[in-house]
Amino acid sequence: MPIKQIIKLSNNQGMHIKLSNWGATWLSCVLPVHGQNREVLLGCQSFEQYQQQDAYLGATIGRYANRIANASIDIDGKHYMLAANQGVNQLHGGKIGFDKRLWHIQSQSDQQVTFKLISPDGDQGFPGELNVEVNYQLTDDNQVIILFNATTTKTTPVNLTNHAYFNLDGETSKDILNHRLKVNANYYLPVDANGIPHNDLVSVNMHDMDLRRPKLLFEKLLESQERQITGGYDHAYLLDKTKAIAAELISSDNKVIMNVITTKPSLQVYTGNFLQHTPNRHNGEYGNFAGVALEAQFLPDSPHHASWPQPSCFLHPDQIYRYQTTYQFIVS
Ligand code: GAL
Repeated sequence: MPIKQIIKLSNNQGMHIKLSNWGATWLSCVLPVHGQNREVLLGCQSFEQYQQQDAYLGATIGRYANRIANASIDIDGKHYMLAANQGVNQLHGGKIGFDKRLWHIQSQSDQQVTFKLISPDGDQGFPGELNVEVNYQLTDDNQVIILFNATTTKTTPVNLTNHAYFNLDGETSKDILNHRLKVNANYYLPVDANGIPHNDLVSVNMHDMDLRRPKLLFEKLLESQERQITGGYDHAYLLDKTKAIAAELISSDNKVIMNVITTKPSLQVYTGNFLQHTPNRHNGEYGNFAGVALEAQFLPDSPHHASWPQPSCFLHPDQIYRYQTTYQFIVS
């Protein structure tokens, strides 16, 4: 009987992270900041609580991160109905996404662990057996490198990401609204109230969505109509691939900076707009905006938008899906 396990990785800087084979989940991220340990990742106290929450805290998301409109796709003239779990749409891979599976621990050492999952043909409606591996590595220069690998037996859309929520002031501080965020993106995707794109990509100059210079998250947060629709930032930015760094998050005390580096084309910026009632580690609950998720992925609903300027989200049997996202922590 497979059991839920906790794996701890440590580096020579005194940083350590915890992970679990349940959901291939990133549970904890502790940084030494001027002699004090700072937990910068939101998380729960127990596996029971992880199973109760629906915020996808730290989980590996698959087979398809973000939304697929009407929970249906067409591949080579064949129509597939997928498991809908948010109204008529699919969110984060369906009712029983990869975040709710017990993964196999493939390999493990002091600074890395690899989780493996076989998603059967027809899983949540998706065609093809998908073989997935997620490797987490903690380097001695405080980088958490997440490598996603997958192969399939039939053509299927694949969009794997990690759903960590960060609070660089420390997860017991109330919210991330005084963090500054920079995202190297010239375009973002407008969405409707269900998070479904209703338009093509739009310049960030429109509707006050520009994050190309570090911006305080609370600044006019609910003044822009775009952000009123979603209760805060909950938007995909198309990354400017001429820039080495996708995003930079800066704590309100300026002591911690987190860089996001990814081979994925887009970054979902989600300011935790619906986090309230999510159990925290201290017998209490998180409030809205307690953490920010910076999820590297394909643009939402990509299976229906082949013309968008990004690599195809469809994986074919003769291909290997391989993407990497790094969260780099700098203490100053
Ligand atoms: C995010 C998504 C949000 C919300 C959240 C989970 O990735 O963009 O709209 O669904 O996951 O609570």
